[in-house]
Amino acid sequence: MTMVLTLPTAAVTREWGVRLGRALLSVPGVPQVIALNGDLGAGKTTFVSGVLAGFGLPGPARSPTYTLIEPYEAGARSLYHLDLYRLSGPRDLEALGLRDLHVGDSTLLIEWAERGEGALPPVDLTLQFGYAGGKVTLDGDAPRRLEITAHGAIGERLAGLLKN
Ligand SMILES: Nc1ncnc2c1ncn2[C@@H]1O[C@H](COP(=O)(O)OP(=O)(O)O)[C@@H](O)[C@H]1O
Ligand SMILES: [Mg+2]
Repeated sequence: MTMVLTLPTAAVTREWGVRLGRALLSVPGVPQVIALNGDLGAGKTTFVSGVLAGFGLPGPARSPTYTLIEPYEAGARSLYHLDLYRLSGPRDLEALGLRDLHVGDSTLLIEWAERGEGALPPVDLTLQFGYAGGKVTLDGDAPRRLEITAHGAIGERLAGLLKN
């Protein structure tokens, strides 16, 4: 399933992140992998801050740009926020021990997941962020486009929860 959302403001982007956070919490006992792709400034980290809020964690998201990964604990679920922008190769991912993190009750939110392609666990939802036409500006609100694609049963279930 694919769905396309228009996100007129950063607050709306964050709110959809909150909704995904709640959806993720309501599917326990399975590993969850969310890929967030799109240009710098497209809204990936803003969305992740919303997911943290949906998990009941105070935000904003700490930037994992240099560390590649930031761990959070939310009740029974472990949340890992990754940013692969500075990934130099698949070996970096091996060093992170990602395979050991792909277990029941862990959620991976992976910015720039496209850079880790081939070395990541299977993705349940791909979130593709883009500018929704017009001028590209980080100054004030400007609309973004978000295309969400579900892969497999867990992805479909999450996408269904997100819609309703
Ligand atoms: N509709 C929108 N959705 C998300 N962010 C927006 C929007 N309009 C403006 N912004 C601004 O754009 C920037 C997005 O930055 P960020 O979320 O860090 O992007 P990324 O992680 O994709 O590089 C923020 O400064 C945010 O306030
Ligand atoms: Mg970011």
